[in-house]
Amino acid sequence: MRKNTDNSKPIQIFNGGIFLFAKVSSAAIMGIDAYPLDIEVDVSGSVPRFVIVGLPDTSVTEAKERVRTALYNSKLKFPQRRIIVNMAPADIRKEGASFDLPIAMGILAATDQIEAEKLMEFLVVGELALDGNIRRINGVLPVVSMMKNLGYNKILLPKENAEEASLVSGIDIYPTGSLRESVNILRAEELFSPYKPSDDGKFQPDYPVDFSEVKGQEAAKRALEVSAAGGHNILMIGPPGSGKTMLAKRMPTILPPMTRGEALEVTRIYSISGLLPIDRALILERPFRSPHHSASKAGLVGGGAIPKPGEVSLAHRGVLFLDEMPEFERNALEVLRQPMEDGLVTISRAQISLTFPAQFMLVGSMNPCPCGFATDPVKECTCSQWQKQRYLTKLSGPLLDRIDIHIEVPRLKFDELSRYRPGESSDEIRKRVTSARQIQKERFRDLKIFANADMTAKHIKKYCKLPEDAKTLLKVANEQLGLSARAYDRIHKLARTIADLAGIEEIATEHIAEAVQYRSLDRGGGLG
Ligand SMILES: Nc1ncnc2c1ncn2[C@@H]1O[C@H](COP(=O)(O)OP(=O)(O)OP(=O)(O)O)[C@@H](O)[C@H]1O
Ligand SMILES: [Mg+2]
Ligand SMILES: [Zn+2]
Repeated sequence: MRKNTDNSKPIQIFNGGIFLFAKVSSAAIMGIDAYPLDIEVDVSGSVPRFVIVGLPDTSVTEAKERVRTALYNSKLKFPQRRIIVNMAPADIRKEGASFDLPIAMGILAATDQIEAEKLMEFLVVGELALDGNIRRINGVLPVVSMMKNLGYNKILLPKENAEEASLVSGIDIYPTGSLRESVNILRAEELFSPYKPSDDGKFQPDYPVDFSEVKGQEAAKRALEVSAAGGHNILMIGPPGSGKTMLAKRMPTILPPMTRGEALEVTRIYSISGLLPIDRALILERPFRSPHHSASKAGLVGGGAIPKPGEVSLAHRGVLFLDEMPEFERNALEVLRQPMEDGLVTISRAQISLTFPAQFMLVGSMNPCPCGFATDPVKECTCSQWQKQRYLTKLSGPLLDRIDIHIEVPRLKFDELSRYRPGESSDEIRKRVTSARQIQKERFRDLKIFANADMTAKHIKKYCKLPEDAKTLLKVANEQLGLSARAYDRIHKLARTIADLAGIEEIATEHIAEAVQYRSLDRGGGLG
């Protein structure tokens, strides 16, 4: 299309009786996807009125005040006539302030302050401040992905969203800081060049914490390494102050680096949730989420009139840490079952059902008893046997069923802590984890599973064959500890991961011996 470079054209003030109309392309977010939206602006009559139709919620209808004021403050004309804004399709609920800019641009085009045909080349999103400046919006990554899929090629968007938009290649990005600047871009596009992404050559996650900060606790660290290596969910049991939270927070730092695809998945979820850091477009660090035990069902799995991702989706590709697991409501834990089985959550509403990704590793923590000191070498436990039993049974059976590793984390005495030198760094541990994951990727390359933790009985039979002496050891352990059938399967999987960490094809007795230790809760005698 030939560019219209004639900006000398005087601003034409609407003359009565003429039917003025403009259409603007925009987008709405539903779940983790964006949908194309047409914003039609119709200016007519002589009685001033401003109406928005097409299933807007109050956050959208408030656009009227922002658009009117922003136009005035930008020295642009706001028509004293009847303005009807229609958002189509009308059956999708719209929320948020990202339609301010397309509505304002639509009014400008309908009243000939900019060229309507030119405006139709762009998809437009952005929130207006009253002074005419443009604010960053949520969900730009899904919007540009949608554009690419549907063949749109130009976007006018808030300048603070430009870097995020540039994660998708092949779209001309026109960042704008104000309504005036947006008008200038429309009037003289050739004076503005599309945004060039900053060089994101350094594809390096940068975590604020590191395993080297954890002193001692070699057994717990090893258990976390095994957990990370095989994708095994883990429960840490220990008295207050033993470092459970500290250990859990470092779990993302030893998981393999995310692929670009995974980083984009995570970024998309954070983008629509409004949680993208301002200074960085692509999230490279695996998430760590730690919902409080009072978290609601909606907070955990997502919800709202237009459903938003919950904690399980914010933990996608990372770690969901349930601190003090027995304190969670039973039905709150129950809702975690679907995401843990399927790697996604489905939220159903009257009109639609939305799916959010939710593939995370679960790290749980608990005290060994209500007072916390059942296993403590120094402090005395004040709980009765009954209280202890009841505390353990508060963990939901089906959820406990999906946790391969139980590990006790003892409390270190102060002088013990000061004696330790810095431990192994996350980098070194992550290297081992990554090569163990590589072995699994090869092993399962024709299957729909990715890690040892995903193996079913059939896979276990095939990939976890034990030599005779390992079988004997497992039998003895079983007789002494009274292991359940499901503990049996878990031990096979864990032994597989431990062997993978060692780079050994055949599972050996030492691998079984270590795996057996990761089932504290199966021991007949219980804890403490
Ligand atoms: N092994 C360790 N190395 C270094 N610091 C430690 C270690 N263990 C505990 N700490 C220190 O003790 C603090 C308390 O640990 P943390 O909060 O992780 O314990 P916790 O087991 O989660 O306790 P709670 O049951 O009270 O939640 C940590 O912030 C850290 O400063
Ligand atoms: Mg804690
Ligand atoms: Zn106690």
